[in-house]
Amino acid sequence: MTERAKFLIEKLCSEHSLELSEYKELILARDDEVAALLAERAREVRQRHYGTGVYVRGLIEISNICKNDCLYCGIRRGNSEAERYRLTKEEILECCDEGYSLGFRTFVLQGGEDPYYTDDVLCEILFEIKGRYPECAVTLSLGERSHDSYSRLFTAGADRYLLRHETACPVHYARLHPTDMSYDGRMRCLRDLKDIGYQVGCGFMVGSPYQTEDELAKDLKFIEEFSPNMCGIGPFIPHKKSVFAEHAAGSVELTCYLLSIIRLILPTVLLPATTALGTLAGDGRERGILSGANVVMPNLSPHSVRTKYELYNNKLHSGSESAEALAELESRLSKIGYHIEYSRGDQKDFFRKEGI
Ligand code: 5AD
Repeated sequence: MTERAKFLIEKLCSEHSLELSEYKELILARDDEVAALLAERAREVRQRHYGTGVYVRGLIEISNICKNDCLYCGIRRGNSEAERYRLTKEEILECCDEGYSLGFRTFVLQGGEDPYYTDDVLCEILFEIKGRYPECAVTLSLGERSHDSYSRLFTAGADRYLLRHETACPVHYARLHPTDMSYDGRMRCLRDLKDIGYQVGCGFMVGSPYQTEDELAKDLKFIEEFSPNMCGIGPFIPHKKSVFAEHAAGSVELTCYLLSIIRLILPTVLLPATTALGTLAGDGRERGILSGANVVMPNLSPHSVRTKYELYNNKLHSGSESAEALAELESRLSKIGYHIEYSRGDQKDFFRKEGI
């Protein structure tokens, strides 16, 4: 390992910040030895704040109907072969009931941008979930909405919101999205969510088309500056009916490397080992956790719809990706020295920082 790589890692550990050009250098310096050192440092930091617990979130995929046509996504509007579905309020509540009895204390309602879910519809669902399970956190991941809509959902009880920024480079953003979507609009949403008081998650795909070290360095700088509470990153995986069907998948190693860097930038960030990581490698989730991740999001959707929420080819939804298989998850975690942590798992210090 070069002295320079060592220096960059030590600087990252002590200052939680690098220059844009230094992020790029660190990405380019990747080899097994550098990756191992970064992962070791990331695990130390993660264990200082979160011990060896891994938070679990029950993921409910409420709809694969989407008005957007993102070029990389399997449930894009233009995919006429996708079998569309949406869950009713009752079905969503059944998933929460099931999840609660399995031990979940965070429910993530994720879906395409489906106009059926108006503020009124969502507020009713939120009131009901929070009424039944006041001690649980609800995370929404429903795309771009107005400031007013985000406010109403927050008032109705939503605690957290996941909205990946997808790329922190406007030119790259434009190459991944149709012209009716904008980088500025995305950033406006993320700022609104933060201003309203949500715990906010951003994130991006690793190895998306046209992405180079320059884009990744910008993603890291953006994450440093925006300082999200959560950050979802996973490898890009092509979907057979998307524009990028023939594009290669992202790398598990690079994803893990970036997870370690993000852990060192934001020591207490909630960092999932994503389903995409588990889909590309049988031990992907474990490798994510050993790189500094501290969250997994097993699938709590009704079985009848699990194969339909197909963002990319062969998306995992069974085995320890499924909410019922927590015992399998626990045994896999215990083999690497970790365990499931069932509390609702807010970011350490979030409430103190916010003065709540
Ligand atoms: N590969 C990996 N991740 C994808 N997503 C969408 N399509 C793909 C794909 N082909 C991610 C996006 C989105 C999240 C819900 O899933 O980053 O924000």
